[in-house]
Amino acid sequence: MKIHRIASIPGDGIGVDVTAEARKVLDRAAERHGFGLEWTEFDWSCERYTRTGSMMPPDGIERLSAFDGILLGAVGFPGVPDHVSLWGLLIPVRRAFAQYVNLRPVRLLPGVESPLAGRTAEELEMVIVRENSEGEYSAIGGRHNAGQPGEFAIQESVFTRVGVERVVRFAFELAGERSGRVCSATKSNGLIHSMPFWDEIFAEVAAGYPDIYSEQCHVDALAARMVQHPERLDVVVGSNLFGDVLSDLAAAVTGGLGLAPSGNVNPPGDHPSMFEAVHGSAPDIAGKGIANPVAQVLAGAMMLEHLGEAEAARAVDRAVSDVLAERSAVTPDLGGSGTTAALGSAIAAALR
Ligand code: NAD
Ligand code: IPM
Ligand code: MN
Repeated sequence: MKIHRIASIPGDGIGVDVTAEARKVLDRAAERHGFGLEWTEFDWSCERYTRTGSMMPPDGIERLSAFDGILLGAVGFPGVPDHVSLWGLLIPVRRAFAQYVNLRPVRLLPGVESPLAGRTAEELEMVIVRENSEGEYSAIGGRHNAGQPGEFAIQESVFTRVGVERVVRFAFELAGERSGRVCSATKSNGLIHSMPFWDEIFAEVAAGYPDIYSEQCHVDALAARMVQHPERLDVVVGSNLFGDVLSDLAAAVTGGLGLAPSGNVNPPGDHPSMFEAVHGSAPDIAGKGIANPVAQVLAGAMMLEHLGEAEAARAVDRAVSDVLAERSAVTPDLGGSGTTAALGSAIAAALR
């Protein structure tokens, strides 16, 4: 029997609850599809930071490198500054394992109503390809003249030719397997160094894909288009920050953050990839048992697909759709009164 070795990092807040449900569903899928998942759980979190002064041990990355996949809950909780917790765990993992694509599929699932009136699932089918290793997320810069009237902060962005090219190329390859359309998020009217460079590389890569329809759109206008004309979008490629913002918007137009999965993918496959929901630790509902586990379950399905268990991944997907369509177990974010655990169990039980 094939065994996949998985590191689970539940993290903080609702990350812990939704990861437990994803494991429940994935274990059942493994059982039914004849493979094994061997889990190792790590308690890396803000709670650990408060106890020990670090989010993960010094050899954390080395320990993760031995796994076939990583399932992450969410990182960040009040009490530890967000930039400390996120730069102490999530961001270093993405970078150490060259998970340079953050793949964020966007779908309107059965039984879920879009806040965009009258939109069908066909019109709301997209995927965001977010650059995940550089760009606006940078530790370069600093604060100056503390306490003086002229106090200021500088935050540098880093865009490398290699970094932009590889994620753009990934988007074009993906478009070739989908609709044949790519839209690049830019802002070269306001950002005069990084975005013209991004656009130039996008155009160079596009020239190698004459059969793919490519366009670029300023990210502000793209946000409006995602709401008013989502049917004109399929593959959307964007920088780290633009992709981040657009992916929460895309989640919202398809029913909310509780439904949106994501994969931090290392395309060459020489390091483990990491799967997580798009959402965070949701401190406002943490500990209440009402977080929607679907995003994390679907992230688990993306992990199964990545591990070569496509049939099991599709079965998890179908089980999610069946349970959402039936609606009796859905959580308050979807207008129901279900709990995290009951929805997870219903999905596991629906696996065929
Ligand atoms: P958030 O995604 O945690 O929450 C935003 C809103 O969406 C909240 O009202 C929350 O209750 C709701 N929500 C999110 N997930 C939900 C779910 N599964 N079911 C029902 N409702 C859900 O974003 P935030 O409040 O900006 O961030 C909270 C913390 O999480 C911060 O520390 C932030 O840095 C961190 N964060 C971590 C990750 C990650 O680890 N990948 C991602 C985003 C945010
Ligand atoms: C995400 C999150 C993270 C990001 C934060 C918590 C650093 O918002 O995964 O979307 O911006 O990458
Ligand atoms: Mn985000």
